Amino acid sequence: MLFAPLLLLLAANHADANLIKRASGFAARQTKSLARDLRVAFGGVLPRSDAQHVIYCKGSAGALAQAASSGAASGTTKKPTATGTAPGLTATSAWHLTQAYAGANFFDGWEFWDTADPTHGVVNYVSQADGEAANLVNVNAAGNAIMRVETTPKVASVRKSIRITTKKTFDGGLVIMDAVHMPTGCATWPAFWSNGPNWPIGGEIDIVEGVNDYTNNQATIHTGPGCNLPSDNPGKLGVSATAVLGGTDCAAATSGNAGCGMRSPSSVSFGAAFNGNGGGVYAMLWNSDGISVYFFERGSVPSDIDAGAPQPKTWGLPMGHWPASTCDPWKFFYKHVAIFDTTLCGDWAGSAWGSSGIPGQEASCAARTGFSTCEAFVQASGSAFNEAYWEVKSVKFYNTTTPL
Ligand SMILES: *[C@@H]1O[C@H](CO)[C@@H](O)[C@H](O)[C@H]1NC(C)=O
Repeated sequence: MLFAPLLLLLAANHADANLIKRASGFAARQTKSLARDLRVAFGGVLPRSDAQHVIYCKGSAGALAQAASSGAASGTTKKPTATGTAPGLTATSAWHLTQAYAGANFFDGWEFWDTADPTHGVVNYVSQADGEAANLVNVNAAGNAIMRVETTPKVASVRKSIRITTKKTFDGGLVIMDAVHMPTGCATWPAFWSNGPNWPIGGEIDIVEGVNDYTNNQATIHTGPGCNLPSDNPGKLGVSATAVLGGTDCAAATSGNAGCGMRSPSSVSFGAAFNGNGGGVYAMLWNSDGISVYFFERGSVPSDIDAGAPQPKTWGLPMGHWPASTCDPWKFFYKHVAIFDTTLCGDWAGSAWGSSGIPGQEASCAARTGFSTCEAFVQASGSAFNEAYWEVKSVKFYNTTTPL
């Protein structure tokens, strides 16, 4: 793979060459994000023609300046107050819509990533034109955006898949994603997430993520040095998560890039169970309190969200929260783009092929499928990917007229 030698080089530079050799899912989770780093780090030098790296290159100078100035201040820096009267502001919510991706024009605001998967999955990410031609991308009769994986019965190596990134960046606010279906099943590794330039300096927020047959979402942040959790006790953090995964040091360089993850208590928050329940709504709130992720299963979505007038203060405990007191949300996160992807096998789903004992994964995928490797299963089992699709009703970005 193109990225493999570069991954080795970067790992060596970080004096942690063992990082990429560990076989556990934990290490896989680490290398997965390290690979994302490479996408950014080498975006300007690799011979690629996609527009993706242009966003990062453009953003990096200002982003670095912002990081430097934030770093000079002590404590949590405040964002400038937003000004003006926003359209869409209602009497019942301080939040107003700034961007909406929904319906027939859903895909207009996204770039299609059509180069190699930085996380080493057995996928071929295709352009919008190629995706439409292969019936992998469309807006269905219900007005929902569909992103599929190729289901050709047998393939020699990789399956076509889709990865998209918002053209616009954001620095704080509220993101609400409503999906009725997400990719699931052995070999799949879907995610809805955001990240900034110059990874991990611009930060990464994994809002929806997991692999294989998982039923409980794992939300995770990855940052530059200096961002921590004050505790690994969910009760003390004020979250509904049942477990903090990866420890309390969220920095890539000093924690071996485990990141700070949190597992949802909801067994319908991810995968087949999410789909069976009609999906649900994820919200990511990024303000001066820190970063928070909320999940609402279908049937329990707050009416203020349905009304387009969100009131996060009324939502109760988030499933995940990374407080500003120990991780300045304006220093460790900036200029984020939102991303959907579905990869197969690769650094996480492939490494976890033989793992069990995670909610939804009572038996390993090796045991369930009878295939000893993830890659062999992918290549031989097209119909297994009939459920490996996103069906997204909307992604909406909200902002406030009061300081974030
Ligand atoms: C909210 O407003 C701030 C300040 O203008 C801006 O930096 C940020 O990107 C906005 N966020 C969203 C989600 O619109």
